[in-house]
Amino acid sequence: MKGLILSGGKGTRLRPFTYTGAKQLVPVANKPVLFYAIEDLVEAGVTDLCIVISPETGDQVKAAVGDGSRFGARVEYIVQDAPRGIAHGIKIARDFIGDERFILFLGDNFIRDGIISQVNAFREGTMNAQIILYKLEDPSSMGVAVLDGDGRVTRLVEKPKQFISPYGVIGIYMFDHHVFEAVNAIKPSARGELEITDTIQYLIDHKLDVRAHLLNGAWIDTGKMSDILEANRLVLDTLEPKNEGQVDGTSIIEGRVVLQAGAVIQNSRIRGPAIIGERTRIENAFVGPYTSIYHDCLIRHCEIEHSVVLEHSTIVDIPTRIADSLIGRNTEVARAGGHTKTLKMMIGDYSKVGI
Ligand code: G1P
Repeated sequence: MKGLILSGGKGTRLRPFTYTGAKQLVPVANKPVLFYAIEDLVEAGVTDLCIVISPETGDQVKAAVGDGSRFGARVEYIVQDAPRGIAHGIKIARDFIGDERFILFLGDNFIRDGIISQVNAFREGTMNAQIILYKLEDPSSMGVAVLDGDGRVTRLVEKPKQFISPYGVIGIYMFDHHVFEAVNAIKPSARGELEITDTIQYLIDHKLDVRAHLLNGAWIDTGKMSDILEANRLVLDTLEPKNEGQVDGTSIIEGRVVLQAGAVIQNSRIRGPAIIGERTRIENAFVGPYTSIYHDCLIRHCEIEHSVVLEHSTIVDIPTRIADSLIGRNTEVARAGGHTKTLKMMIGDYSKVGI
């Protein structure tokens, strides 16, 4: 079986981060979210992979993933010229996939417990397609599946305006070659995309065997800030403590904490679960639970918890505790000089500040 990962898209809900970076490279517990997808596939024995990238962020994705050897995989790339839909991503991967069965994995989807059982069921079975459903109170921002009394999928609707079913279709799909007939037959939707839901509906309408698996474990589409923080919490909760950094005698490390190579902790308290990235310095500071500070950051004279900080950022001399925050790359958060009640800011487009 082969694996097809989609890693394009504009990431509009994660602006301003996605003006300069791919949404699939936003780190969750100091690892790009895309890497979890690759690892899930490899763990399920799917190592022949193709990643569909965009002209804008494709080079970053290539630089991060490379040829896949460090994941134990073989990775090739296809550029999708514009966001023309998930089904278009399948269409342009026809040569890579050939007639094999394959797993389609959207690079911003995060699943806590991996995909081994679902992949095995598909590998051993005779079904033509398998989708994974996740029960939600309000799945209206997803593709939604309607089931009949026997649990078979009868209808799929992309982002329904009215409630039709609680079952959202998550971004991990399994297909055989019949899917190419479907993606070649369907027409672009109102948003101008070839929809994956229309593709699956085509298979159902043509009496192919489409099965649905209901997911019990956690699933997150990491497309917006609260989702990144939630995925971060889930992963930090499972981390094994590790210390590859340096901690001085006046610092206190509590609970499950990972210090990556070259991290330096001075006169500070780190209360896990938390991860501190490579070469990052924490000085006279408090880092609280559910915080990930990425590589090459400086955190000095401040308190931060339940937050994700991206690489090369500096947070210095902040009198109020920072919480529930996602802080981008190469940013500086520092106390303004002069009048103590002044806020001095240079904030990117679509940023959000809570004071
Ligand atoms: C896409 C699919 C949708 C699916 C979702 C899962 O939505 O179109 O059917 O439920 O991924 O993440 P989009 O990310 O394009 O809004």
